Amino acid sequence: MQKRTLLKTAAAVAMLATGSVALAQSAPFKIGLILPMTGQQATTGRQIEAAARLWIAQNGDTVAGRKVQLIVKDDTSVPDVTRRVAQELIVNEKVDVLAGFGITPSALAVAPMATQSKTPLVVMAAATSSITEASPYVVRTSFTLPQAAVAMADWAPKNGIKTVVTLVTDYGPGLDAEKFFKSRFEFNGGKVPETLRVPLRNPDFAPFLQKVRDIKPDALFVFVPSGAGAAVMKQFGERGMDKAGIKLIGTGDVTDDDQLNDMGDVALGVVTSHHYSAYHPSPANKKFVAEFQKANKGLRPNFMAVGGYDGMRVIYEALKKTGGKGGGDALLAGMKGQIFESPRGPVFIDAQTRDVVHNIYLRKVEKKDGQLHNVEFDVLKDVKDPGKTK
Ligand code: DHB
Repeated sequence: MQKRTLLKTAAAVAMLATGSVALAQSAPFKIGLILPMTGQQATTGRQIEAAARLWIAQNGDTVAGRKVQLIVKDDTSVPDVTRRVAQELIVNEKVDVLAGFGITPSALAVAPMATQSKTPLVVMAAATSSITEASPYVVRTSFTLPQAAVAMADWAPKNGIKTVVTLVTDYGPGLDAEKFFKSRFEFNGGKVPETLRVPLRNPDFAPFLQKVRDIKPDALFVFVPSGAGAAVMKQFGERGMDKAGIKLIGTGDVTDDDQLNDMGDVALGVVTSHHYSAYHPSPANKKFVAEFQKANKGLRPNFMAVGGYDGMRVIYEALKKTGGKGGGDALLAGMKGQIFESPRGPVFIDAQTRDVVHNIYLRKVEKKDGQLHNVEFDVLKDVKDPGKTK
């Protein structure tokens, strides 16, 4: 009896051992991180790559016994390149997850490939509402423009702003920002005498700002993608728009933490609505910012970084739930419904829409300890994307 039990135990131990050896020896779990590392959107790539590497440094590169490998590819934010790089990652590298996606056209270019190959696609940056509807394999950890724009359209009329001209970059997120700001602001009794759109590539804001000066609304509402805010702010100041009594408001992309501290005093007092400020006063965020800065020569993390950091968490947790096995559908199931505390505050991945639900904060640019910051003064809790059609 005793001998048999011993033998059984020995066999079980051996099986366990070979099992874990098999898992350790199995192919690494590959995350294909597609980002604009060069070109106009390069700061987005830099921020997200740094955040993903910080996540790995803090949480290790083995999940449930499986080695994790991060493969970073530069798509230069050109959708044809995104598509080619994604193809290589799926077919040659056999990645388990695709992630990143600095701009909406890049995410949309790859969505059909995610569906076809059953590869989860974690959108860490792009923010047009419809992206999650482009494939059932898309999961988003960034934000949506309707979430941010509606919050501003509710705040402005309560704060003396009755007429607003909108100025947005002419593509998905800009059109979402314009549509959701305008319709909500008008619903609230505001007037939008003009809607202006600037091209994504090499925008020249000067003629548009001149037009705004002539119309002289109470405020100018701006959406430009991460990286373009400083140029808008500079020209806004140079044209003396603030002195002419026109306020600058917008989604928080325009007072991007990546650039904010170098924008100068013209940025002081600018009110924006967004899901993340590096100045968010939670202990989790203070730790995130301190460790991010330590690992990146003092670079301040922006909302792109937090999308990347949270995206890594969503991937790690999903892999854990599969016991290290992975598999497209199992990973996707493990991503849906996750709830966790992000540096931005509480986050929920809506299982129905696969989109992020989080707080939207109203923030004002102020000088704190000699640095410009987006200082939060109000919060809308657990905001779902108002742009969803289903
Ligand atoms: C998108 C890109 C940005 O840099 C941003 O701040 C918001 C949205 C996009 O392309 O979806």
